[in-house]
Amino acid sequence: MSNYDEEICGMVNYALLFSVMLVSILWDPNHSRWQFKYSAYSAVGFLCLILSLNPLKAMFPRWILIHRLNRHRQEIGVSVFSYAMIHALCFAIGSGSISRWLSAANNPRFMSVMLVSMPIFCILAITSTQFSKIKLGFKNWKRLHRLVYLAEAGVIVHLGMNGKSMLALMVFLPLVLVQLFRVANRDNLQ
Ligand code: HEM
Repeated sequence: MSNYDEEICGMVNYALLFSVMLVSILWDPNHSRWQFKYSAYSAVGFLCLILSLNPLKAMFPRWILIHRLNRHRQEIGVSVFSYAMIHALCFAIGSGSISRWLSAANNPRFMSVMLVSMPIFCILAITSTQFSKIKLGFKNWKRLHRLVYLAEAGVIVHLGMNGKSMLALMVFLPLVLVQLFRVANRDNLQ
């Protein structure tokens, strides 16, 4: 199977899973409570996983598991967007109307994710393909994908403003530390 075929199969899989989740949200009498939480924590988990891969790869170059996981960066990245989208959709359905949902963009609790993180996740998911890498050129593509750090900051603010500072501290502090360690030792690490 070529890279292109694999990408198409992956996208069909995502579309199917996304549709199943969407149907379960619309049918759930419990106002999509479990999907809301499950998708939020999955998005956080996949985000931390993808952001920790490069620093860990540089720090532990012999760690096979990191290299294996690194081959699935695209899938992990698209999962972040998909789960964040399901989480935002649950919120949209819970809000009752599109205008009420959109007005949440003015609320500081959601501003950082609605105006910064989600648009960035969307752009990064769309341009995560091999085709985009070739079209944009690897340097520009890499520069664009550095926006993920801005999206990360948006998520940290979102968690902090929604009473999840402890979670943000426990999950993102170690991540930010390994990221800083990698930047500080860029010349010594692979
Ligand atoms: C359009 C974007 C988003 C909207 C409208 C939104 C909305 C919300 C709302 C309404 C809450 C519940 C606050 C409360 O309990 O009072 C929440 C919590 C949360 N959000 Fe988001 N969110 C968005 C994006 C994200 C993203 C991108 C992530 C992670 C990558 C995320 C992760 C979380 C987590 C982990 C919680 C705590 C869940 C809990 O235990 O209740 N959110 N969000």
